[in-house]
Amino acid sequence: MCNKKIYVNILLIFYLSLFHNVYASQTKDFNLQIKAVNLGNWLITEGWMKPSLFDGIKNNDLLDGTHVQFKSVKLQKYLCAENGGGTIVVANRTKASGWETFRLWRVNETSFNLRVSNKQFIGLEDENKLVADIDSPGDKETFEIVRNNDDPNRVKIRTPNGLFLQAISSESVVNAETTVYEESSWEDSDPSVFKMTVLTSTIIKGEYQITNGYGPDKAPKIMRDHWNTYITEDDFKFMSENGLNTDI
Ligand SMILES: *[C@@H]1O[C@H](CO)[C@@H](O)[C@H](O)[C@H]1NC(C)=O
Ligand SMILES: *[C@@H]1O[C@H](CO)[C@@H](O)[C@H](O)[C@H]1NC(C)=O
Repeated sequence: MCNKKIYVNILLIFYLSLFHNVYASQTKDFNLQIKAVNLGNWLITEGWMKPSLFDGIKNNDLLDGTHVQFKSVKLQKYLCAENGGGTIVVANRTKASGWETFRLWRVNETSFNLRVSNKQFIGLEDENKLVADIDSPGDKETFEIVRNNDDPNRVKIRTPNGLFLQAISSESVVNAETTVYEESSWEDSDPSVFKMTVLTSTIIKGEYQITNGYGPDKAPKIMRDHWNTYITEDDFKFMSENGLNTDI
């Protein structure tokens, strides 16, 4: 979305300068002065212009829409939605690509729906078997990502029924087993521990991500403070005094 806006802006500047040149060459007397300013990131958030606006969001590398992959540390295999979705989730792939990539729908700072490549969501079938055939996610498709304090990309995935997902040795099914694995256990031998790869190039920092990221309690104040301070009345005075006549 950011790239699109820059592209549009560049296009517009190009168009305006073209217009100016053509017009000026046709009418010698006419002096069309375009003095433009781009008020980006003010009314529409664009994270790349002020990344610090996202600093207060917990787990701000897991914003809505970010793509992640999970590799079982015990099996050294990636979680994979077979066929890209519509059937079981397995843990038998040595490389990660589309079927092994999950898009986060952020519910809150720790809870997420996980969308697979064919746009379905993962959920538990028969209470403990992981499948990827849910069309619209609800509470039962909401998973908590528990991060290790020392290595935030070492994670466990807590299912809606309170158990942790486990990549069991058969590799062909991922279950939420009733065997108790302590939350504090982070050993490589623990089938509930995954190495999470965050595909940072997929992180979007836009309007939805910032309000969703701060949540309904904090977002209104953050946004109001930003709007009140990022561009102020003084900036408009400056623009007017310096003959700026266009906002793009
Ligand atoms: C996040 O959402 C989950 C599922 O709705 C809920 O159980 C949990 O308490 C929420 N956590 C926070 C920090 O709001
Ligand atoms: C992974 O497991 C599924 C289900 O048993 C199987 O269909 C698939 O062929 C397996 N893939 C690999 C690469 O082992």
